[in-house]
Amino acid sequence: MQELIEKYKQEVSSFKSSDVKEIEFFRIKFMSKNGVLNNLFNDFKKIEPEEKRKIGLLINDLKNCILSKIESLKIKPKEKSKVQKFDFTLPSSINKNGSLHPLTIVENKIIEIFKLIGFELQTGPEIEDDWHNFSALNMPDNHPARDMQDTFFLKKNPDLLLRTHTSSVQIRYMENNLPPIRIISPGRVFRNEDVSARSHCLFHQIEGLAIDENINFSDLKLIIQEFVNRLFGEEKKIRFRPSFFPFTEPSAEVDIYWGLKTETDKKITKGTGWLEIMGCGMVDPNVLKNVKIDNDKYSGYAFGMGIERIAMLLYQIDDIRLFYENDVRFLNQFRSSNII
Ligand code: PHE
Repeated sequence: MQELIEKYKQEVSSFKSSDVKEIEFFRIKFMSKNGVLNNLFNDFKKIEPEEKRKIGLLINDLKNCILSKIESLKIKPKEKSKVQKFDFTLPSSINKNGSLHPLTIVENKIIEIFKLIGFELQTGPEIEDDWHNFSALNMPDNHPARDMQDTFFLKKNPDLLLRTHTSSVQIRYMENNLPPIRIISPGRVFRNEDVSARSHCLFHQIEGLAIDENINFSDLKLIIQEFVNRLFGEEKKIRFRPSFFPFTEPSAEVDIYWGLKTETDKKITKGTGWLEIMGCGMVDPNVLKNVKIDNDKYSGYAFGMGIERIAMLLYQIDDIRLFYENDVRFLNQFRSSNII
């Protein structure tokens, strides 16, 4: 029996664990009703009286070993008290949520408005061919209007170019769909222009196109006024200035009256309070012919607006280059403005 007790003592003192389950098994093995210790006490009753004193001491010693072992393994409460030593006065860690780019925020808002009015979203390629970007839009070869937009041509294939406007999507859509048509198409456009605070060689447009029977200029005016009111959340004064685009006739440019409340307003509107936000007009019958839509039966309007301009006004940004630099100090400021 003495040997057995010593073997158990060995086992107890070498036992190590931080696993709660294992420790519980250990406790059950030694301390439960049918556990090692109780069995030893039972056997103890049966042994010779002269042995009793010696064995009794050994069993007691084993019991103490087991108890102190279990106690030493119960590190949990101590650990807990350590963890709870919070300093509640410290500033909390900063939750670095990402944010949408300001141009995306404005683009989404514009899309949302036109979708509500019944327009469908369409996109087209950024690398275009001459036909979709120019010829089909009533700008045949050598047409002087091609110079209105300085173009990046692809060196390897000069028939390919970076689209200079989203009007190319109009053509692609009309080639493959019959009226009634109501689409908007957002996207990047490229022009070989000097980069400055007011213009860039890359910017974003949203194109709109509606083709149906009996569409006239007053439909266009109505839709633009409605759009402006919804975008800015209030009745804004707008004006249509006669203009020229080869693919619309008549053509106009739309200005909104923003006012001159801040220095940025003055800068962006060149001190006039008015800002040109889009070009528009009635789709030229030649364009309809080019895409084989019956121009006696159908008419329509188109418009194209620059997203940067609108974002600059809304967020009071006076340098267009900030949009493309991806400086987090700039982008962080839009973290909470997923809606305008
Ligand atoms: N494509 C023209 C531009 O980039 C804008 C426009 C679109 C004008 C549709 C009229 C109709 O300036």
